[in-house]
Amino acid sequence: MDQLNELAKWRAKEAKHQPSWPDLDKLKDDTDYLRTLPPLVFAGEADKLRREIALASRGESFVLMGGDCAETFAESTADHIREKIRTILQMAVVLTYGASVPVVKIGRMAGQFAKPRSKPTEVRDGVELPSYLGDIVNGFDFTPEARTPDSSRLIQAYQHSAATLNLIRAFTTGGFADLSKVHEWNKGFMQNPAYAKYENLATEIDRAMRFLHAARVSDESLRTVDMYVAHEALLLDYEEALTRIDSRTGNLYNCSAHMLWIGERTRGIDDAHVDMLSRVHNPIGVKLGPTTQSSDVLALIDALNPEGEEGRLTFITRMGAGVIRDRLPSLVEAVKGDGRPVTWVSDPMHGNTITTDEGFKTRRLKDIFDEINGFFAVHSQMGTHPGGIHLELTGDDVTEVLGGSEEVLEETLGERYETLVDPRLNHQQSLEIAFLVAEALQETAL
Ligand code: PEP
Ligand code: CO
Repeated sequence: MDQLNELAKWRAKEAKHQPSWPDLDKLKDDTDYLRTLPPLVFAGEADKLRREIALASRGESFVLMGGDCAETFAESTADHIREKIRTILQMAVVLTYGASVPVVKIGRMAGQFAKPRSKPTEVRDGVELPSYLGDIVNGFDFTPEARTPDSSRLIQAYQHSAATLNLIRAFTTGGFADLSKVHEWNKGFMQNPAYAKYENLATEIDRAMRFLHAARVSDESLRTVDMYVAHEALLLDYEEALTRIDSRTGNLYNCSAHMLWIGERTRGIDDAHVDMLSRVHNPIGVKLGPTTQSSDVLALIDALNPEGEEGRLTFITRMGAGVIRDRLPSLVEAVKGDGRPVTWVSDPMHGNTITTDEGFKTRRLKDIFDEINGFFAVHSQMGTHPGGIHLELTGDDVTEVLGGSEEVLEETLGERYETLVDPRLNHQQSLEIAFLVAEALQETAL
């Protein structure tokens, strides 16, 4: 119990980007109910992920994180979830086979429902309403009913997370992830260079699988994969209610996901978010934007990984293609000087968001490529390991990010622009990134 009292200390700190709940008694009832529900993940799984992320900090594996900017209840369907898993598995195969490196697969899924927004309210035609803060808080429709925060949504978010995680577990252990099916995962037209490249790779994997079969090599790892889930730990009432004491060790674990990260807007060293996550034992990520100072990263290490445990702390840099080569080196230098280990992951999405004249929030694939190349170049210069990549993607054929071999143009953005928040890579753009990263990793290994 003492542990849970310690956990509650975030309430004495400044908690940014929390909704103004209209009914605090109801919020208490809903979070009390959440506390009675089973954990979504187990402490032992979070520990396993921490060990896998530790390998990435040493260059012995590579972290692939991907999923929607904001999951929605309406799109938490079997089809959408399957397509996202398929995309992540295909990317992982490209990386594993293309760069001969084990890939730690983490879905930005099963809990990525809360969003920080630049403004607390939105004005349309002179009407001002609360901004959409993600399905865990309010609805997207621009009506007072939908936009009023409703804490029953916390329970719905838990239920959608549980169902999504269940499907992820079923798909990744129930035959869908069998490596002898890599061909079946391909779904595009072979004229498309990304799909054609994937098809060639799948043919090579098939040959390797036939060889293994003939040599009587049979291993569970060829048929099932471990897939973990992570989300931004933004909504502290929800995160607190799902934090539990591990009966094996007596330690606190946030059991809403294997890994949690702190966003760019809530990583202030005195913020409630840092306080809460300093008290749980999961692997933790922190987003670092272009204004991050060396003193910030050192303070974050002190707060979140004072003992210097490998795999505990991941810095997810999202600098922007234009500045990563200038800003990242001093941060890496500071961490090297400190000596406590961190895993460096690149989020090449959030520093490269633009708005078109027509008002679409988008990103250019070439800027995303450029930030990834900058990330690899800086780590190569500094003698540190590029540990992974964090992407906003969907398995569907959307038109939200500009560019790609089946080029999405400014004029065609509106055709299938479906995201409610940030623009996502579509399936084919995601594969293109996987090939780019595989090549960059191969060069790193040389
Ligand atoms: C996000 O990951 O969707 C996000 C809001 O990122 P950041 O905190 O890096 O801005
Ligand atoms: Co986003």
